[in-house]
Amino acid sequence: MKKYVILAALSLAAAFQPLRADEGMWLPVLITQRIDDMQAHGFRLTAEDVYSVNQASLKDAVVLFGSGCTGEVVSRNGLLFTNHHCGYSQIQQHSSVEHDYLKDGFWALSRSEELPNPGLTVSFLERMEEVTDAVLKGYVPTMDEAQRDSLVKVNGDAIVKQVADPSKGIRASVEALYYANQYFLFVYKVYRDVRLVGAPPSSIGKFGGDTDNWMWPRHTGDFSIFRIYADKNNEPADYSEDNVPYTPKRFFTISRAGVQEGDFTFVYGCPGSTKEYVSSDEVRYVGEVSDPEKIALRTLRLDIQKKYMAQDQAVRIQYSSKNANVANAWKKWQGESKGIARLGTVAAKEDYERRFSAWAAGTPYAGLPERLHALYAQRNPVYRAYEYYVETIRTVELLQFASNVKSALDAGRPVAGIADTFFKDYYQPIDEEIFVAMLDAFDKHMNAGYKPEYFRRQLAAYGSPEAWRDALYAQSLFTDPARVRALTPDDLPAVTADPAFALYDAFYQWYRQELQPVIARLDREIRLAYRDYMRGQMAFEPDKAFYPDANLTLRVAYGHVAGYSPSDAVYYAPVSTLKGIMEKDNPEIFDYNIPQVLRDIYAEGGHDSQPVCFLATNHTSGGNSGSPVINADGNLIGINFDRVWEGTMSDIVFDPDYCRNISLDIRYLLFVVREVGHADWLFDEMVFAD
Ligand code: ARG
Ligand code: ASP
Repeated sequence: MKKYVILAALSLAAAFQPLRADEGMWLPVLITQRIDDMQAHGFRLTAEDVYSVNQASLKDAVVLFGSGCTGEVVSRNGLLFTNHHCGYSQIQQHSSVEHDYLKDGFWALSRSEELPNPGLTVSFLERMEEVTDAVLKGYVPTMDEAQRDSLVKVNGDAIVKQVADPSKGIRASVEALYYANQYFLFVYKVYRDVRLVGAPPSSIGKFGGDTDNWMWPRHTGDFSIFRIYADKNNEPADYSEDNVPYTPKRFFTISRAGVQEGDFTFVYGCPGSTKEYVSSDEVRYVGEVSDPEKIALRTLRLDIQKKYMAQDQAVRIQYSSKNANVANAWKKWQGESKGIARLGTVAAKEDYERRFSAWAAGTPYAGLPERLHALYAQRNPVYRAYEYYVETIRTVELLQFASNVKSALDAGRPVAGIADTFFKDYYQPIDEEIFVAMLDAFDKHMNAGYKPEYFRRQLAAYGSPEAWRDALYAQSLFTDPARVRALTPDDLPAVTADPAFALYDAFYQWYRQELQPVIARLDREIRLAYRDYMRGQMAFEPDKAFYPDANLTLRVAYGHVAGYSPSDAVYYAPVSTLKGIMEKDNPEIFDYNIPQVLRDIYAEGGHDSQPVCFLATNHTSGGNSGSPVINADGNLIGINFDRVWEGTMSDIVFDPDYCRNISLDIRYLLFVVREVGHADWLFDEMVFAD
């Protein structure tokens, strides 16, 4: 009786609480294992609708866009949506002073106006299948890790060779999952004539800039529109005027019904990299050493960049993209380390490891957390030196430039173009100040055992980073555009002797000789330990569903629309509107200066409640940008583009209270296409579910 009452109470509570699915990025091919749960959370389609190799399924409407984003097909004529920040470099490449599509937006008004993008591809997943046995064929347990690696490579290459067919655009790859306990073959069809159809002005597509990046409330219209072209047989082809719009096996129908708190959401895309099953040692290193140190170093760089950007409009333009790149991870790491600390993830993992070890005694999994602990103790100081090197010396632009020019000369490639690209966006006072700050930081924070001999000698000779800077920037030929442009392979001796190249190279050789071999050896051992530990964790918790860490392969993440509470007494509602854009609008602030046309449209009235973005609990990561956000009926309701910074530890540990993905509401895309782009012709090919 009592038991019945408790059960009934539980099921009542479940009925009235927003349902929680949240954590997990699942392999579509195994979706049959999740479909009951998805349906219990409101999904109304079947496993076959999500992924099938026998019939068209939703997977056939999802692509890997370029090499690091996701996109979705939205018409029978190959129309494609992704993010503005995913199409950014294409939009930029088509921009000039006369046609500044980044600034003003771009709208093809017919197919003939769509712009080709050499080098851009979209990859459709044809199928995935497990190939573990074939990959490990010939493996015997006496093999060491290096032998296993080469066996896996040989077998994997053979499998790929059997199915790949470059002449038909078929690419294949074998990917390790669960720390190489399993291998899957992924077969893609790659289309390479992908044209730009539309993009809003950056003041819409990048509205809020880095100020709002990783933040809520968010009002970024982060979309761009492309179209896939094929030859007359619908097969991949190089760009040609004779190509025709690609006819997809499946495309998304669009829902205009809108989202409400609690609605089921499903993100179908390609998350890049997560590490959910690492030991407490890795989490402690990331949260307490790596993230805080890299944040501090980037703060120095960002402050220097910002100081000069504020003084000069030309410098602001030169450094806006560089600054955005530095700031993106900088902000993400802040959320990550805070989130790890707030959740007590290190202590929670330590506790888990104690329980694991007690359970594992006498099994093949005995001693694994302890072994990882010992390996990390060896690896961390070396790895820290490597990360410090990357975030200091390698960020000095002149040094990197010297190395790039040297490589080009070595290979007999012309350097004039490299020089032009570099100097267009180079402001030497910024670089000089960063040089001093980075050398100083490296000197102060690395102990003597981790400083290259050359660095110690030179710094002692100059007496200070400032004196070293004065000499280096005065003497280096790389500060002189004319001299660099004129360099030929005959000048290699002068290039090699140049103080900028010498400093770069001294560090690089030190890395190659002192750090890299140690890191590689320990990483191999750590990987091996994780492979056992992963299996051990699965054996330890036989009832838990383990999703594989992200590796840029296609995944399903499901959850629901939800707000969150970032701090005491604050609650964030999950939907933002045009009213919020008007509240932020400020011609004085670059990130918040909206185009006049949006002000005019707003002034007409009636647009206050126009939705812009929404939050949900889907487990996403970098690479999920541009992913379709799908409702319970499989219709497109949004385009994923970001997460909230308080939840960016989701790459290591997922917290349903804080982890939210941010999506563009598809109705804002439709609004901007119609009101700002006047590209109504695109609506004719879209299919609306409601
Ligand atoms: N934070 C998003 C992601 O990681 C968007 C980055 C692009 N936007 C920017 N303002 N930097 O990639
Ligand atoms: N903004 C990321 C991307 O570009 C998505 C994320 O990290 O949530 O893929």
